[in-house]
Amino acid sequence: MSNTTKAFRGEILHFLSDPAKDNEQSYQYFADGILVVTNGLVESVGFACDILTTLAEDVVVKKHDNGLLIPGFVDTHIHYPQTQMIGSYGEQLLEWLESYTFPTESQFGDINFAKPRAEFFLDQLLTNGTTTALVFGTVHPESVDAFFTQAEQLNVRMICGKVMMDRNAPDNLTDTPQQSYDESKALIEKWHGKGRLHYAVTPRFAPTSTSEQLNKAGQLLQEYPDVFMHTHLSENKNECAWVNDLFPECKNYLDVYDQHGLLSKRSIFAHGIHLCDDEYQRLSDTDSALSYCPTSNLFLGSGLFNLNKAQEFDIDVGLGTDVGAGTSFSQLQSLNEAYKIQQLRGEKLTSLKSFYLATLGGAKALDLDDKIGNFSKGKEADFIVLDYQSTDLMRVRMNNAKDIIERLFVLSTLGDDRAVSKTYVMGELAHDRENKKISAL
Ligand code: GUN
Ligand code: ZN
Repeated sequence: MSNTTKAFRGEILHFLSDPAKDNEQSYQYFADGILVVTNGLVESVGFACDILTTLAEDVVVKKHDNGLLIPGFVDTHIHYPQTQMIGSYGEQLLEWLESYTFPTESQFGDINFAKPRAEFFLDQLLTNGTTTALVFGTVHPESVDAFFTQAEQLNVRMICGKVMMDRNAPDNLTDTPQQSYDESKALIEKWHGKGRLHYAVTPRFAPTSTSEQLNKAGQLLQEYPDVFMHTHLSENKNECAWVNDLFPECKNYLDVYDQHGLLSKRSIFAHGIHLCDDEYQRLSDTDSALSYCPTSNLFLGSGLFNLNKAQEFDIDVGLGTDVGAGTSFSQLQSLNEAYKIQQLRGEKLTSLKSFYLATLGGAKALDLDDKIGNFSKGKEADFIVLDYQSTDLMRVRMNNAKDIIERLFVLSTLGDDRAVSKTYVMGELAHDRENKKISAL
């Protein structure tokens, strides 16, 4: 096969490390830059004046003016079956699950129901500039088949898993320890490592699994060491009290998962708001990651995530939308709310840290930073173009923004899906705001 090289010119930003640690050395910024992509992988990135002279004559250079080219967003925690119940009124976590979530999820055993919803969901991700996500299915294997079938078609790097849940949920949403093991194993064999797809062993959270089922989850991780583990942790105070009652022999909430062998560098715990120092330390020691979900934490009234503490303990943190408890697919909106959460805590969230969290930070949290997250040579060329003029208000405000740092802050404060003008997957255009078809769903 002959090599296909493409070049994309515009204002370019990407991260090399965490700005909270390395500040000026943590990122590269090219006011007039070029990203060169060969066969879907990054070949090089740099100033246009340097790169132009190195390009073969037949390479087409695509120009993106008035915008910012950055790596695709990474969403480290989201539920695809909850798309249709986003913005459900009035409850905190446990009541919200009973009133809205379980009835919605019970419909996904029918593959013909699940398929168009998986397609709509993946389209929403790309529309919002998210090119990789860690995704909850439902208890039904059909939900995961529907999701992976569409993700494979789109050639996106995605992680998904069937929920394991054998108690404290309606009968039509529960499995048994053995059934959850067998069904998860079959899905791993079918999908994990196929193209750009990965499987995540997905116990919903400690209250909906018996110890026997959590042991089965641990057994799967032993048998398949490179699959992911995805669950919820310490999101809501009533949930934490319930976990204490259900697992009195465990030291704390995280210890429930720990005692069942569920902590590793491919383990991602959503929320982690109400943690003690022992739990932070254990997450750090095992290289486990937290997913910070600002819009969800505010919407469900769960609490204010302690980002500085996670940082002190050197824990990898990614950003999650947690749709449908989260109120937007847009990671720009997640950052908008994250900034306000830090304000309420009396802390600062810098724009560099924000965009790091949404890109390379997420890739690191998912242990996928050898493949995605920035424009290092050889990485997969998933990237987006953010439009500084996406709304009248943004255009007017941008006229008063003095530098890239301020423009980033305005993007994350005012931006949403309208600010994503293009999304590229492996160097191919996968979403173009100007040529958007109306959804069939
Ligand atoms: N904890 C257990 N299940 C869920 C869920 O579906 N959403 C959220 N936000 N938290 C959970
Ligand atoms: Zn969740």
